[in-house]
Amino acid sequence: MTELNTEHTKKRETFSTGLAVFFATLGSAVGLGNIWKFPYVVGSNGGGAFLFIYFICVIFVGIPVMVCELYIGRKTRSNAVGAFEKLKPKTAWKGIGLMGIITSFLIMFFYSDVSGWVYSYVFKAITGQLSGVTPATANTIFEKTSVGLVSPIVWQGIVFIVVAAILIAGVQNGIERITKSLLPVLFVLIIICDIRAFTLPGVRNGLKFLYYADFTKINGGVILAALGLAFFKLSLGMGTMITYGSYFTDNNNLLHTPIKVAISDVVVSLLAGMAIFPVVFTFKMEPSAGPGLLFTTIPLVFSKIPFGGILLACFFILTSIAATTAMISLVEVPVAYFSEEKNMKRTNAVLLTVIIMFIIGILATLSASSKSLLGYIKIFGFGFFDLFDKLSSNILMPVGGLLTTIFVGYFIRKEDFKNEVMNNGALSNDSKFNLLYIVIRYISPILLVIVFLSSLGIIKF
Ligand code: PFF
Repeated sequence: MTELNTEHTKKRETFSTGLAVFFATLGSAVGLGNIWKFPYVVGSNGGGAFLFIYFICVIFVGIPVMVCELYIGRKTRSNAVGAFEKLKPKTAWKGIGLMGIITSFLIMFFYSDVSGWVYSYVFKAITGQLSGVTPATANTIFEKTSVGLVSPIVWQGIVFIVVAAILIAGVQNGIERITKSLLPVLFVLIIICDIRAFTLPGVRNGLKFLYYADFTKINGGVILAALGLAFFKLSLGMGTMITYGSYFTDNNNLLHTPIKVAISDVVVSLLAGMAIFPVVFTFKMEPSAGPGLLFTTIPLVFSKIPFGGILLACFFILTSIAATTAMISLVEVPVAYFSEEKNMKRTNAVLLTVIIMFIIGILATLSASSKSLLGYIKIFGFGFFDLFDKLSSNILMPVGGLLTTIFVGYFIRKEDFKNEVMNNGALSNDSKFNLLYIVIRYISPILLVIVFLSSLGIIKF
């Protein structure tokens, strides 16, 4: 290791307390995935039956992969690429980290676009542009927000300025402070929206859609979508949890944190679903309406009630918080890589990363719908927006997760892994660890391989 690298390792920040670790990790998991993506993916894949498969993916794949990633990060106290290099120097394993960096760019290309829509809805709600909307006007407003040359790109630029400012402030002053103070507020706000949604006439049908499991709707594509969503939701298979794990303190619990984060994350997703589907059914909208679902339903929840405008603004403010806490974890992956492996100053690493993300992200923005300027360009049948999304969620993240479980399960000594997960003997829960180890070695990778083969049509069930 060069002296410069040693210097970086010494100066490395960590999160300060267990609570800070929980909120930062949850801040990465909770994001647009819960509030924007989860409802429409559940909606397009048949509701309750999808949910069941999703839970299985979280338990048998999501949580084990998260433990593996946190282990890799905390053990090495390095960025996603450096971590593999420290554990297995001069091998191809660091390719997993590099793949993670590419994935983080791909996700940010479209995530920053949707975040821009959310930021612009905050502005619209505050300035009263959303008051008294009807299903028809809600659609028109959404189209104006997402299609066009100037407004979506300007809002996307604002998103990057906010993210860059937080990251430049650092791990404790930026990431930790923002996530710890804002996530509890998000939770309260979603509950308020649920209370309102529960007083709508469509509540029964909405909840039935979300929870009633019709297993005839399940096929390989649905399972792949559930797996992809689990990875996207829990920020897995792309180095984020390796990078955040490297900021964990020595006494954080690497087993309980993922379980707590996964449960809280599912709760937030369900709360978001319960706020949205009653509206969909009350106003006879299409549950599988796609990426616009959130933007065309939520304004209706508050359209005709006292203080509706204020509540609506709060809802989008809170969605923008969720989006922002997730984005800082996405952007932190290349930032940590550039600053540690390429010896860049943190500020320069942040600026370089967000500038690249912004420039290429404009492609996603201009192809978000078929009516967008570049909406006609199709690659493998997908526009840029969908291509970046599908490539990352359905391919790169699960492949990254598969390779990570194989790495930890078969190429790391069990004792080393166990010592780190058990905080060098400070925690004693052998039976839990042994169970987890079996899942990591046999269940998670096999499930991942089966899902892939079925999605490629090689096996059918
Ligand atoms: N988990 C975030 C969400 O559900 O919105 C998205 C995300 C964040 C994906 C960070 C990947 C990541 F590394």
